[in-house]
Amino acid sequence: MPVDSASRLDRMIARLTTQRRCLEHAAGLVRRLPGPVLEIGLGKGRTFSHLRLLLPGREIFAFDGSIHCPPDCVPDPEHLFIGDFRDTLAAAQPRLAGRAALAHADFGTEDPARDAALAEALGPLIDALMAPGGVVVSDREMAARRWSPVPAPAGRWPYFLWRCRAGR
Ligand SMILES: C[S@@+](CC[C@H](N)C(=O)[O-])C[C@H]1O[C@@H](n2cnc3c(N)ncnc32)[C@H](O)[C@@H]1O
Repeated sequence: MPVDSASRLDRMIARLTTQRRCLEHAAGLVRRLPGPVLEIGLGKGRTFSHLRLLLPGREIFAFDGSIHCPPDCVPDPEHLFIGDFRDTLAAAQPRLAGRAALAHADFGTEDPARDAALAEALGPLIDALMAPGGVVVSDREMAARRWSPVPAPAGRWPYFLWRCRAGR
């Protein structure tokens, strides 16, 4: 069944199945690349907890406007940035610039214009935090000068991956 005419339940299953597959693929791509993980959109902590299992021992920094996940998914204060992404990603620069091996940006809504505006703002901010060779994964199309698309594993929902080149 085409995903557009599927039920909301089917669409959620398609989205989460694709998301899990893409995170697993991205984790494989960065397994040998040192550097922290950025979870941009902690939300209910679902993908945060999955990333913890995929990359055990890896430092993970989480970003969100507020905390609404179960207690076992709340990072310690040193690894948590609360506030608008546009402010917190900029504020993270002194600690994280050029260091992140993997960033997962999960911020999509049902408002395409809002998502496009946020994606445009986030691309350069995330790029500034990425290590050369790092991988960015997102539920929305983004762009930055150093990024080249990486084919996403086959799935029934759009998801996007990019690899960062060296240089500024
Ligand atoms: C789709 S949810 C993330 C789901 C999460 N990855 C999970 O697996 O549970 C998107 C999250 O992004 C946060 N968010 C959206 N826009 C934001 C913004 N401009 N600044 C900060 N947080 C934002 C929302 O509060 C929400 O928790």
